[in-house]
Amino acid sequence: MNSVLIHNGRIIDPANNVDEVGDIFIVDGKIAKVGGNHSENADHVIDATDLTVTPGLIDMHVHLREPGFEHKETIATGTAAAAVGGFTSVVCMANTSPVTDSPDKVKRIYEIANSKSVSSNVYTVGSITKDLVGEKLTDIRGMLSAGAVGISDDGVTVMNSALMYEALSLSAELDFPVMVHCEEHNLNAGAVMNLGETSRKLDLVGSPNAAEDIIVARDIMLAELTGGHVHILHVSTTGAVELVQWGKQRGVNVTAEACPHHWILTDTEVEKQGTNAKMHPPLRTQKDIDAVLEGLCDGTIDAIATDHAPHTPSEKALGMKDAPNGIIGLETCVPLVMTYLVEAGHLTLTEAIAKLTNIPAGIVGIDRGTLSIGAVADITIIDTHKTAKVDIEKSRSKSRNSPFDGWQLKGWSVMTFREGVQIQRTNANGTSSG
Ligand code: DOR
Ligand code: ZN
Repeated sequence: MNSVLIHNGRIIDPANNVDEVGDIFIVDGKIAKVGGNHSENADHVIDATDLTVTPGLIDMHVHLREPGFEHKETIATGTAAAAVGGFTSVVCMANTSPVTDSPDKVKRIYEIANSKSVSSNVYTVGSITKDLVGEKLTDIRGMLSAGAVGISDDGVTVMNSALMYEALSLSAELDFPVMVHCEEHNLNAGAVMNLGETSRKLDLVGSPNAAEDIIVARDIMLAELTGGHVHILHVSTTGAVELVQWGKQRGVNVTAEACPHHWILTDTEVEKQGTNAKMHPPLRTQKDIDAVLEGLCDGTIDAIATDHAPHTPSEKALGMKDAPNGIIGLETCVPLVMTYLVEAGHLTLTEAIAKLTNIPAGIVGIDRGTLSIGAVADITIIDTHKTAKVDIEKSRSKSRNSPFDGWQLKGWSVMTFREGVQIQRTNANGTSSG
């Protein structure tokens, strides 16, 4: 028997309505007791005084790039970054090379994850269409049997509505999320940023909010028609928030997530940061930020995810027209949530933690994200008082493409446990050890 006692922390477990100062006793990687004071002799004792103890955080939207783009990230480096950031579970997207578009390729992701020394639990989605080209559905049943937790062509939109109808019909039958990237590609052709004052000033091709809203509306309508579960990835527009709210009011099985960059940065950041502010969907306006924040507050937006999208410095140096889309996010998410949502008064600590634990777990159907007795002891410890600067050079990711380098933030993940084993400890000076 192996036991760990996490002593005297503020335990927040949204799924079980727990918010109290006390101990957590872990036996053989499972939660044995929560709350109160335990005098049991444990093999390891962690003093969590003044710290917040939560279920291991779940990032339901990351790109780990393996196989095929190991120069940007690998499953080992991506999960190391996840652990530093407080994430004990990640769901990776299918735009690898080859694309994760068959049961064998789904199995391959799990084989790599199991054979390498990975720091957090890896789950994968399978793609909706073969090779992400939007023409032919994949063997969705087979991929689900192989362990895919959902399907997604993230990075691109499936423009063929009949294919989306079929995918969502299957979702109604088999109960899995169809996770959709929403951009009407005819309308955003060539776009490298949001359409607006800044794109005009910089003479860059912009994508209108409507490009996102049209697909969000379409996919909610198709979810209503079929009874399937549509999950809207990285909501960035006022219209998308309103449409998700409309769908929920109509009883449609629609869930949504938002990423920190979409509720913190506006498109003016492109002028200051260039390609580190280039992603799809793009950074929008203050009005959109306000709408996304409101959606997070009123529950329209269910979950927080990072869309961790590593690209190398040389790729990002190609300039706004040619550089790939995306930013890394696993290590900055918690301090951004703590600073811009919790400290700023938009969400309570419990509401924020729920959007990073039991809610995403429910969307992708994984048995993580709670501190229930008997649950796997995946745990994150957050120091809500710790103030530190983001130092992107210290990132565990292989890539450095973050617009938040140098930002002073308050509230950091300091320890993570996976199945009761401590996998990450961040020292007070911000350096980390695995
Ligand atoms: O900015 C993005 N980058 N958005 C996506 O949807 C895909 C991602 C990537 O894979 O780089
Ligand atoms: Zn993505």
